[in-house]
Amino acid sequence: MPPAKLISLFHAKCQGEPRIYALAPGRVNLIGEHTDYNDGYVFPAAIDKQVSALLAPSTGATRLFSEQTGEGQTFDAQTVKPGEVKGWTAYAAGMAWVLQEHTGVPLPNIQGVVSSTVPMGSGISSSAAIEMAFGVAWNQVAGLSLDNKTLALLAQRCENQFVGVNCGIMDQMASAMGKEGSAMFLDTQSLEIQYAPIPSDLAILVCDTKKPRALTESAYNERRSQCEQAARIMGLPSLREANPDLLQSNAETMSETVYCRARHVVTENDRCLKFKKALKNQDLNEIGHLLKASHESLRDDYEVSCRELDEMAEACWETSGCVGARMTGAGFGGACVALAKIDQLTEVISEVETSYLRRTGLDGEVMACRAVNGAQAFRV
Ligand code: GLA
Repeated sequence: MPPAKLISLFHAKCQGEPRIYALAPGRVNLIGEHTDYNDGYVFPAAIDKQVSALLAPSTGATRLFSEQTGEGQTFDAQTVKPGEVKGWTAYAAGMAWVLQEHTGVPLPNIQGVVSSTVPMGSGISSSAAIEMAFGVAWNQVAGLSLDNKTLALLAQRCENQFVGVNCGIMDQMASAMGKEGSAMFLDTQSLEIQYAPIPSDLAILVCDTKKPRALTESAYNERRSQCEQAARIMGLPSLREANPDLLQSNAETMSETVYCRARHVVTENDRCLKFKKALKNQDLNEIGHLLKASHESLRDDYEVSCRELDEMAEACWETSGCVGARMTGAGFGGACVALAKIDQLTEVISEVETSYLRRTGLDGEVMACRAVNGAQAFRV
């Protein structure tokens, strides 16, 4: 059932009755960072910070209204082209565009209201959640019968070609394919998923630095091309195929920066595999060690951390009851992910927030999250 507040917003802004309720979660990545565009491993969980949309067919253009921004925007679902729509509506319009490109079926226009509890700029994929909410909604309205994996691939294409952000597949796949109570180990080359239950005595924390991500796009594209360069030098299709010995033996043939970027990816893939084992064995020491090593590698070799993320990670590392922590997502601001013992949750949250405030003067926010199912659309 959609929340009463969303229903009354629908009635205030739209005509007739709502027909479709779509829900799509944000994600937090436990480990496997900056590996997805290198055909590597990632380990995200879909979380209970979600985008919800209450929609109905429209007789005119597509008209959408956001509860948070208070803004409405209009576009024609059948004719919209890249570059024509800006802001959060671009993710919805881009899904209309990509679904038509893929299926050849003209999409019906819709009207509706959208609400999100995914904080923006915190690195937990608010944009992928909007894409997936409209992916499942239009899939249902137009009777396309596409599965969620296909919708995730189309959402990535929407982000790459319509929005113009060159992201990998992790965020859309996590929002599409998440499973309640589990994280998902995803091989981004084969797209095979193995679900891994989060041990019942552990909680996932998203520790928002409240430093919005900055300069992410140009730095992100630069990291991507440095990785491609390293693979090319080693004669490999991607860094997925590299290993520490091969990288070492090619060290002289690449710049130190490119070598360090590749070393992060190679060691991070290995940590991701080890993390899967450690989570299964509930080996808390190993989990903590791997998360810390991942943060250090992102900080020193990949250089995508920032002072606030480092202080947040350190605040977590020093807090007893916190099993491990590291920066999560693209970096340069946003959030750390931490795993904490559930019976010490309240103390961990308040200790980390206090320590982060003392270190930075910033009011960070530590949120306990549940792993939830991927995007779904319901008839109402
Ligand atoms: C962003 C991108 C993802 C991934 C991460 C880094 O979230 O959208 O595809 O590359 O950064 O791991």
